[in-house]
Amino acid sequence: MTRQMDKIVLAYSGGLDTSIILKWLQETCGCEVVTFTADLGQGEELEPARAKAAMLGGKDIRIVDLREEFVRDFVFPMLRANTLYEGQYLLGSSIARPLIAKHLVAIARQVGADAVAHGSTGKGNDQVRFELAVNALDPSIKIIAPWRQWDIRSRMQLLDYAEMHGIPVPKDKHGEAPFSIDANLLHTSTEGKILENPAEAAPEYVYQRTVDPIDAPDTPETVTIGFESGDPVSLNGEAMTPATLLTALNSFGGRHGIGRLDLVENRFIGMKSRGVYETPGGTILLAAHRGIESITLDRAAAHLKDEIMPRYAELIYNGFWFSPEREMLQALIDRSQDFVSGEVTLRLYKGSATVVSRTSPCSLYSADLVTFEESAVAYDHHDAEGFIRLNGLRLRSWAARNGR
Ligand code: ARG
Repeated sequence: MTRQMDKIVLAYSGGLDTSIILKWLQETCGCEVVTFTADLGQGEELEPARAKAAMLGGKDIRIVDLREEFVRDFVFPMLRANTLYEGQYLLGSSIARPLIAKHLVAIARQVGADAVAHGSTGKGNDQVRFELAVNALDPSIKIIAPWRQWDIRSRMQLLDYAEMHGIPVPKDKHGEAPFSIDANLLHTSTEGKILENPAEAAPEYVYQRTVDPIDAPDTPETVTIGFESGDPVSLNGEAMTPATLLTALNSFGGRHGIGRLDLVENRFIGMKSRGVYETPGGTILLAAHRGIESITLDRAAAHLKDEIMPRYAELIYNGFWFSPEREMLQALIDRSQDFVSGEVTLRLYKGSATVVSRTSPCSLYSADLVTFEESAVAYDHHDAEGFIRLNGLRLRSWAARNGR
């Protein structure tokens, strides 16, 4: 390493890769490495991460509970847009990276570090997301990406390095090296190993937080979600904080096999990759949010949101959360949510979350207007006649020209 560094803050998950990086940074740079572990509700104990960092020579070990901030300031704003990447992916990993980067930068400033480091490989999206976010938040901070700098080129070599340095290598239930897994309150993503062959169906043991819909209960369960200005605020009549609510929905969804996705996606960096995602609570929330919008949003407002959504999703996927264009789109999306308040009831049953009813004090729905029955509301059927005649004008010209 050519640059001279005094202090580095490492985004440390406690997993194999970042443990090796912790050792490698200390050896290569000979500087102090502060570890930062974000509690995003990944569902594992974080105290073992502390012990592991200490064992590997970490002196300043920071574990910060970011669950509420994650859901309130990142997941919910994204949900307001009904965001899906390539039509299906709820962006569970993508949306966590800018939050981790934000705290990496904050800690670097606090401890006077001149660099931050992350454990993302040189082939994925996550390196891009971390680094673009750090660039946007503090251009003076240097970034170290060991996977792009060291001589380790494969997982096999990584395991050798671990063995040489006495770093414990985790094994899965089958005694093999584990999949590449990223988990938080929104999702669990699994990539690598047999999943790298998209022609091969994912074995059941890949799934971690959802049951197979076939094995889900035969009796459906009903949940009611309350929304205020576009954000979920209550579950079955009980007010809840963002992280508490998502945690509760994750257990409902997991039980009923909701939110499984087996996807081949296009990475920003250029290649296609195959992953398995489980997003139980997020999948329920997406259906619920669309449900409440269906009665509270004006048609043109709703359609405009749907038009910009893929663009907004791509920005988040590609790592541009902290960017002027994402903030501009966010302002538009947020403004659309002023009246998106009310309650939605969904039935959870064998892998599906289906909206069965919705109510709102700000509803635009008018039974009087739409009814098939006689209605007192001023709606003149003759207006429809003229409406169709004018809309058909150009179609009649077009058909006549074509000689039909
Ligand atoms: N492919 C997904 C994305 O780019 C998930 C990446 C998750 N990272 C991991 N280490 N498995 O958002």
